[in-house]
Amino acid sequence: MSRKHIIIGNWKMYKNMEDTKIFLNQFSKLIKGKVIKCDYGIAASYTNLPVLKLNQFHNLIIAAQNCHYEPEGAFTGEVSIKMLKDINVSHVVIGHSERRMYFTETNEAINKKLHALFNANMIPVLCCGESDSEYEAKKTNDIIKNQILLALAGIKSQHVTKLIIAYEPIWAIGTGKTASAVEAQTVCKMIRDYITELYDENTAQKVRIQYGGSVKPENIKSFLEQPDIDGALVGGASLQAESFLGLLV
Ligand code: 13P
Repeated sequence: MSRKHIIIGNWKMYKNMEDTKIFLNQFSKLIKGKVIKCDYGIAASYTNLPVLKLNQFHNLIIAAQNCHYEPEGAFTGEVSIKMLKDINVSHVVIGHSERRMYFTETNEAINKKLHALFNANMIPVLCCGESDSEYEAKKTNDIIKNQILLALAGIKSQHVTKLIIAYEPIWAIGTGKTASAVEAQTVCKMIRDYITELYDENTAQKVRIQYGGSVKPENIKSFLEQPDIDGALVGGASLQAESFLGLLV
């Protein structure tokens, strides 16, 4: 089964509106005349999303970095899925390790967000990954299986086929240290096998699985050559237009 690669830049809490305009201006010039074969997008802070919408050029996927699972209500500081849809957001990054770590995002909340997103025809990018000590203790598979099992509770296979999963070992995020391509492939294959176990082979073959953690233009090809790695979720190297374009191989 051939799956189209998808590269998403996760800008985290970087760039204001002016920086975003400058990026888009540079990127639109650099991309002119180039044939891009993969899907690609940017996950930006809420305040930058309208700028991406206004300056949206062909095919750029606009992603948010979080959402609330309730349709509306007294949830000060939160943003609903409907609000995101209004500004052309189609994908939402869910369960990033930074949200799990610094904002105590639980597997239960992640599961509710996945249900709400699929019900709204949006595409979640579900992040999973183990910490340094879990990696050293060889607990990677158990940790990730548990994250996926809890995130996908009650989600139907027809929705899972649209899901993007990002495997991001925490020890590789922003550290310059990457998992080797073979190591990343082994975990991504384990994730796909686990989806087969939870659902079926056909569903698992449709899920796109990204690797994330210190991906750069210089190393992205080694990951994308792997049969079970269908793209990348990229932080630092997505912030500059030239470097972001260099990821779209
Ligand atoms: P870096 O590419 O900066 O390591 O960040 C990875 C990441 O967290 C993407 O979500």
